[in-house]
Amino acid sequence: MGAFGDDNNPCAGSFLASRIVGGFMGGFVLTAALFSLSSRLLGVDVIPIPSLFPSMGLFSNRKSSEKKKIRVYMDGCFDLMHYGHANALRQARALGDELVVGVVSDEEIIANKGPPVMSLNERIVMVRGVKWVDEVIPDAPYAINESFMKKLFTEYGIDYIIHGDDPCLLPDGSDAYELAKKAGRYKQIKRTEGVSSTDIVGRMLLCVRDRQSSENQHHASLQRQFSHGNNNKSENRNSPSSTRISHFLPTSRRIVQFSNGKGPGPQARIIYMDGAFDLFHAGHVEILHRARELGDFLLVGIHTDQTVSSNRGPHHPIMNLHERSLSVLACRYVDEVIIGAPWTITKDMITTFNISLVVHGTVAENSDLLNEEDDPYKAAKELGIFKLIESPMDITTTTIIKRIVANHEAYKKRNEKKTESEKKYYEGKTYVSGD
Ligand SMILES: *[C@@H]1O[C@H](CO)[C@@H](O)[C@H](O)[C@H]1NC(C)=O
Ligand SMILES: *[C@@H]1O[C@H](CO)[C@@H](O)[C@H](O)[C@H]1NC(C)=O
Ligand SMILES: *[C@@H]1O[C@H](CO)[C@@H](O)[C@H](O)[C@H]1NC(C)=O
Repeated sequence: MGAFGDDNNPCAGSFLASRIVGGFMGGFVLTAALFSLSSRLLGVDVIPIPSLFPSMGLFSNRKSSEKKKIRVYMDGCFDLMHYGHANALRQARALGDELVVGVVSDEEIIANKGPPVMSLNERIVMVRGVKWVDEVIPDAPYAINESFMKKLFTEYGIDYIIHGDDPCLLPDGSDAYELAKKAGRYKQIKRTEGVSSTDIVGRMLLCVRDRQSSENQHHASLQRQFSHGNNNKSENRNSPSSTRISHFLPTSRRIVQFSNGKGPGPQARIIYMDGAFDLFHAGHVEILHRARELGDFLLVGIHTDQTVSSNRGPHHPIMNLHERSLSVLACRYVDEVIIGAPWTITKDMITTFNISLVVHGTVAENSDLLNEEDDPYKAAKELGIFKLIESPMDITTTTIIKRIVANHEAYKKRNEKKTESEKKYYEGKTYVSGD
């Protein structure tokens, strides 16, 4: 079901370490009862426990190479994909050995909730770009029916269907994961707090708010969610006092979870690419892929909110520095990020990081700045280590904002509905432990 696409409403779920153990043990017993010691039972206890609990070593002397790999499935629309989606995929992957992701087709999304902002191809590029994803099913149904579930189990060898802890209800009020639950093949992960597509669309609509001040009322509910970096305090004047500001709480732990935790090897050719990477999109993924292919280690410099704002204007960036950093870190082509990179790449910086090549895409918001006096790439150019690379996709942050604006009315209606259900979720929310 539209696990994602909507919001972070991937209806993501919860499991703290202890609960994972509990869950697996529970699964062990349950499976034993259901399949009376089938091979699935044997599969259950070799979940990647070593990586989850390095100190436990409980099953460490089992020969895991002989066991079938645990394959988990997660689906979603992944429209306007953000680090909340990436985090859900990370958690899903941790419940198995291989993660298969179903991306809902355009037709199915249109039929169920109106046109997506990003095309199927763009959405697939995004999902494939996430480092925890092993396989993609490019035309997944919005809701898992009996026959598709069979197909997942038999054709794709899926062991578990994963979803979040907030309920995903179909238009008829039924639980989208009912079938998987009944089959005992359902596992839950924790919803990632602090971000939703609703919230992001709200931030984007702010960019056009000034032109349509009569619509202030409509925007009030969206505005109040705009809570980072460059906001002008007076913008929040109309906001209800029950303001739901951004829930994003950047923790060092989250950054560690997203990091590769590895530096470059001794002989590594280090490529450097910098940018705003705002509203991380398919164009970013493709250009990072190209950049990574030019060397052994891709270091990405992410500009500060102030830098982006002074180059692109107020209301930019849409996503703040930490959010943008997490999105870039989740990308499989990226080895390391600089959280808050300088606008100008100095010779000293090139030496410090042993940068072999500085690259820049041909499709970029700041291409016109390259020939100016204060060219940020001047030092790299003088050293002869600057390269302009052809951007595979003609898409920028501005393109996405334009799409949202063009469909302003439709998205606004959709968003209001979702804001309401988001509100319900937050009102009824209780603590869930999880990762
Ligand atoms: C189940 O879903 C699949 C995939 O979307 C679809 O082709 C099929 O017609 C559906 N079956 C039923 C009985 O609705
Ligand atoms: C904040 O917004 C108001 C009204 O839109 C404007 O008059 C004011 O100059 C802005 N202040 C800053 C610091 O941008
Ligand atoms: C610096 O990078 C070059 C490749 O461009 C590599 O040969 C060299 O070993 C690196 N230096 C160190 C100290 O790692």
